[in-house]
Amino acid sequence: MTAAENRILELRAELDQHNYRYHVLDEPSIPDAEYDRLFHELKALEAANPELITSDSPTQRVGSAALSAFTQVRHEVPMLSLGNAFEENDMREFDRRVTEGLDLPSGDLFGGGAEVEYSCEPKLDGLAVSLLYQDGVLVRGATRGDGTTGEDISVNVRTVRNIPLKLQGSGWPATLEVRGEVYMSKAGFERLNATQLEIGGKTFANPRNAAAGSLRQLDSKITASRPLEFCCYGLGQVSAEIADTHIGNLQQLKDWGMPVSRELKLAKGIDECLDYYRDIGERRNALAYEIDGVVFKVNSITSQRELGFRAREPRWAIAHKFPAMEELTELLDVEFQVGRTGAVTPVARLKPVKVAGVTVSNATLHNMDEVARLGLMIGDTVIIRRAGDVIPQVVQVVTERRPENARPVQIPECCPVCGSHVERTQLVKRSKGRETVSEGAVYRCVGRLACGAQLKQAIIHFVSRRAMDIEGLGEKSVEQLVDEGLVSSPADLYALSFEQIVDLEGFAELSSKNLLSAIADSKKPGLARFIYALGIPDVGEETAKVLARSLASLARVQQALPQVLTYLPDVGLEVAYEIHSFFEDAHNRKVIEELLKHGLEIQDQGELGAEFAASTTLGGMIDKLDIPSVGPGGAQKLADKFGSLEAIISADWLDMRQALPEKQANAVREFFAIEQNRQLALDAEKQLRDFGMHWQSEKKVVEGLPLAGQTWVLTGSLELISRDVAKDKLESLGAKVAGSVSAKTYCVVAGPGAGSKLVKANELGLKVLDEEAFVAFLAGHGITV
Ligand code: IVH
Repeated sequence: MTAAENRILELRAELDQHNYRYHVLDEPSIPDAEYDRLFHELKALEAANPELITSDSPTQRVGSAALSAFTQVRHEVPMLSLGNAFEENDMREFDRRVTEGLDLPSGDLFGGGAEVEYSCEPKLDGLAVSLLYQDGVLVRGATRGDGTTGEDISVNVRTVRNIPLKLQGSGWPATLEVRGEVYMSKAGFERLNATQLEIGGKTFANPRNAAAGSLRQLDSKITASRPLEFCCYGLGQVSAEIADTHIGNLQQLKDWGMPVSRELKLAKGIDECLDYYRDIGERRNALAYEIDGVVFKVNSITSQRELGFRAREPRWAIAHKFPAMEELTELLDVEFQVGRTGAVTPVARLKPVKVAGVTVSNATLHNMDEVARLGLMIGDTVIIRRAGDVIPQVVQVVTERRPENARPVQIPECCPVCGSHVERTQLVKRSKGRETVSEGAVYRCVGRLACGAQLKQAIIHFVSRRAMDIEGLGEKSVEQLVDEGLVSSPADLYALSFEQIVDLEGFAELSSKNLLSAIADSKKPGLARFIYALGIPDVGEETAKVLARSLASLARVQQALPQVLTYLPDVGLEVAYEIHSFFEDAHNRKVIEELLKHGLEIQDQGELGAEFAASTTLGGMIDKLDIPSVGPGGAQKLADKFGSLEAIISADWLDMRQALPEKQANAVREFFAIEQNRQLALDAEKQLRDFGMHWQSEKKVVEGLPLAGQTWVLTGSLELISRDVAKDKLESLGAKVAGSVSAKTYCVVAGPGAGSKLVKANELGLKVLDEEAFVAFLAGHGITV
């Protein structure tokens, strides 16, 4: 066997395998760019050795066999593939072949050739679909499959909102097969992945996989819940001619209600095609959907016929590809970075690779859950994706290429910077009156300000513009101050002397004086600014403002119990615990004390914020205790009957029964029989009173609830949970439930048969949950149905 023969067999076997994974399993294991390279290597070898071409070579067919679970569909007119051009020269070559094929004058170096009219369209990155209309009614939808035989996905395509079930207007041919691409917008893809993560479902590497995985679902209800879109770009079988140009055909299809690309244009001659390619290339990141190139087609149908086909590609069309956004590279190592709050974050060190024109050698891995989700090992070949301006991401591991010496990624036991212990964070959830603690995705170095990395970041944050706003202290200077041992807490900044500063690199007499006066000027911060500057984990500017506005004194913020903090808008139990434990920590308390000793005077302290003071009633507070089977209504009844928490706790069963039905009465008594629950409730009540909260106010407690401020809409028939119960549950979480969808709607729950409301939600790009996802979402908030 010759070397060429050997390589051909090898390439065919590998491509067959990739084809199967890509087309049948929807789980490609290598990026398209790598596939294209292997494919072209095979094509070139076969071109040089034509006697070795066999009919089963991947170059001789378009795709792979259909999934057996769908019915097979034969395409009367085969669904073809396109030849690719990567360089300008490939395009000029294509134009030359077209011109010659049409017997037109081809011109010379100085031009003068005939200018062929081409249609220009974006090449959407989704999957090709055939839609068959009989007498204007959609009767069948099919995938491309291997180009001759596809899968019948009629039920699925019907769920794609912008596919007309019936054509508009009149005059369509009795048999009309429309072809186009089903795809997912970038926003739809992000939303879908976010929902999938929330409900613990499978996430997708890119919008193409998400579209393919969503459309080829045996359960079309799942397809219906996915934000799929369609764009038509051509015709298949037709019983009568429509127009004599490609653009004329698309224009007519558009008039019949078909979605057609807004970017469709006519170009006269190859130079205008190249202009189009450049223009779209520049706007690629800003488009709402992903494209992997542009497609040029000879506009005249007569000319298309004249040119015909070569193998399984039309001679009259070509795809001019853009640089791929995904590439393969090797994971050389995983290093761990320590952030301001001590979070120890894995970072992928990659063998440098060019992705869409930019060399990538690092990628964030977010956290250890992400490492586990990817199944990542050091030494793995990975797929890197750089979509637009987004930070490069590792989207998939090519497990087939895992070397024998691959090593698992291990979170270090000790901080790589200071050697302190690294701990896994805990997630606190409270449901049905019980707190459960589970393991979080984040690991943290416990060294805090004793850890050089955290100290540096903490000080950089402390002096930053939106925090204490100390001008003249850049990152480099902070590093020096820490490394020289001049600063070991933010409080030390206020003890710096002129002599200490002037000796630092980059400082002279004037800049040292300026820095000292900037430090002195920062001594009267507003409360919100100060809280933000402390760098409490998960407390950004907004939360700092809420804390300052509501509690209005550093002392109250420092003392606040977690259960009291959850009364504040947008403060969940986890953040409440972070805040509480930050101020419980002796070291942090000492830093604050020292800051105050250095003369820091915190402004805007005073009376409890009015909106907070009036934000609850006794009923509201009882409701917040989350007593099993007691909703807001029951809680209010208890408040009306007993008037104080103490009275409810000590009430006997008979009294309780006067307020509530038996089941709820029992639940209340069982709840308060637990010492910890009693204590938690009484402590919270006492602190709220100490803070100056008044009970008489009738305002409902919604601000502190997890869905406060959100409007939800329920649509379609709900089967797992009744509409009333769903509404009740949402309201108990603080949401408003509305009857119609608008831009102000936060989320739409769409059951089977959802119609115009779902369409509108998709149009507005709103978050949509199907019923299962909704039930899972409720479970995530501790509500089981
Ligand atoms: S025309 C005979 N136009 O690219 C021409 N294809 O590599 C057949 N695609 O299977 C295709 N956008 O999935 C055409 N505007 C466009 C396209 C497009 C995306 C996809 C389609 C096709 C593949 C060909």
